[in-house]
Amino acid sequence: MTKIIGIMASTPNGIIGKDNALPWSYPEEIEHFRKITDSQVMVMGRKTFESAPNSLLKKTPIVFSKNKAIRNLKPCTVVESIDSFLEHILSIQCHKAFMIGGAEIAELFLKNNLISEFILTKIHKNYEGDASMDLSFFDKWQQILLTQTKDYTIYKLTNPQEIGK
Ligand SMILES: NC(=O)c1ccc[n+]([C@@H]2O[C@H](COP(=O)([O-])OP(=O)(O)OC[C@H]3O[C@@H](n4cnc5c(N)ncnc54)[C@H](OP(=O)(O)O)[C@@H]3O)[C@@H](O)[C@H]2O)c1
Repeated sequence: MTKIIGIMASTPNGIIGKDNALPWSYPEEIEHFRKITDSQVMVMGRKTFESAPNSLLKKTPIVFSKNKAIRNLKPCTVVESIDSFLEHILSIQCHKAFMIGGAEIAELFLKNNLISEFILTKIHKNYEGDASMDLSFFDKWQQILLTQTKDYTIYKLTNPQEIGK
């Protein structure tokens, strides 16, 4: 079974994006993301895929979209539902995959209880934005502090529930 790990950053209010970009600029936080996800299988929503720099997408990403034609933009595997996603990761036999957002895909995965671990960067300041995630999903998750800076703190959150239930 593939372990699905979330990796995202959020303000204390759950803001994760603005105008299809990150509302903040913390280069070292991006470096942390790159190190963890480098050459790993990544799954994301179509809007995040369109805004992600090619340098982040070394391995062919898995992209949620109802529109198969996005494959013509940059190389990717398009999945149009959770079922087709699960079928695909079974077929490629990967041990782990990183769910990198955005808001719609994070909610889809969290609601369906597909994520066993979440590497969450908690940005200390609030920023304005138009994409957000519901942080109450993590209320009962176990939390381990990984890194602390003056701008953000990175946690590893572990899902206490059995995956898929
Ligand atoms: N802070 C962070 O860690 C972080 C990480 C990633 C992204 N972001 C930010 O988040 C924002 C983008 O998030 P978003 O929520 O607007 O978009 P998104 O989740 O990246 O993509 C949404 C798209 O995914 C597809 N989709 C959604 N649910 C689906 C389903 N059940 N089945 C098939 N396809 C589905 C649809 O594509 P189609 O319309 O093509 O059908 C939908 O328009 C940007 O501002 C980005 O910078 C932040």
